[in-house]
Amino acid sequence: QSLLPKGYTFRSLRRSDYKLGHLDVLADLAHIGDISEAAWTERFDYLAKCQGTYFVLVIVEAGDNECDEEKRIIGTGTLVVERKFLFKLGIQGHIEDIGIKADQQGKGLGIKMLNALDSIAKDVGCYKTILDCSAKNEGFYVKCGYNKAGTEMQHYF
Ligand code: ACO
Repeated sequence: QSLLPKGYTFRSLRRSDYKLGHLDVLADLAHIGDISEAAWTERFDYLAKCQGTYFVLVIVEAGDNECDEEKRIIGTGTLVVERKFLFKLGIQGHIEDIGIKADQQGKGLGIKMLNALDSIAKDVGCYKTILDCSAKNEGFYVKCGYNKAGTEMQHYF
């Protein structure tokens, strides 16, 4: 928290965050389609029930004064914790859906988001975190301490 510039707060995604623009941040990352508040809340509730598996963080722009309400979500990122049989029941973290609002990029918020998710991953016992990204973002993840490994495969249905 103290590592963020003044005016920004790190916290977990809340059930009321549809209204603070959670989807607006994701819309800068990929196509999301038309999602109603009810459908968003249903998905939030599902993730919340999977205890210890989904960690969705957001960066929120604070109000101008301490007592003012939060203005909007300007960044998000997710850690999905996979509990394996392999590697002596190893726990592996998957980093997903990192997004910083276009007008807030380049302020060091993205790297702080990655550091925060990696820190949660360590705390819950992950031996490593992995992610997929496009070539244009490779340099960013290298700066976050990641190195290239393997080949991504996909199968659309
Ligand atoms: N290529 C190379 N270096 C980069 C890039 C890039 N695309 N983006 C940032 N950097 C560098 C910065 O210059 C900075 O370097 P410095 O410490 O030497 O000054 C360092 O990485 C940290 O940059 P931040 O300011 O923390 O990055 P930012 O807040 O802009 O966030 C992000 C980067 C998340 C990629 C942002 O540009 C974004 O949201 N893009 C659109 C959505 C997206 O592509 N998300 C990633 C999807 S992949 C996934 O989710 C696993």
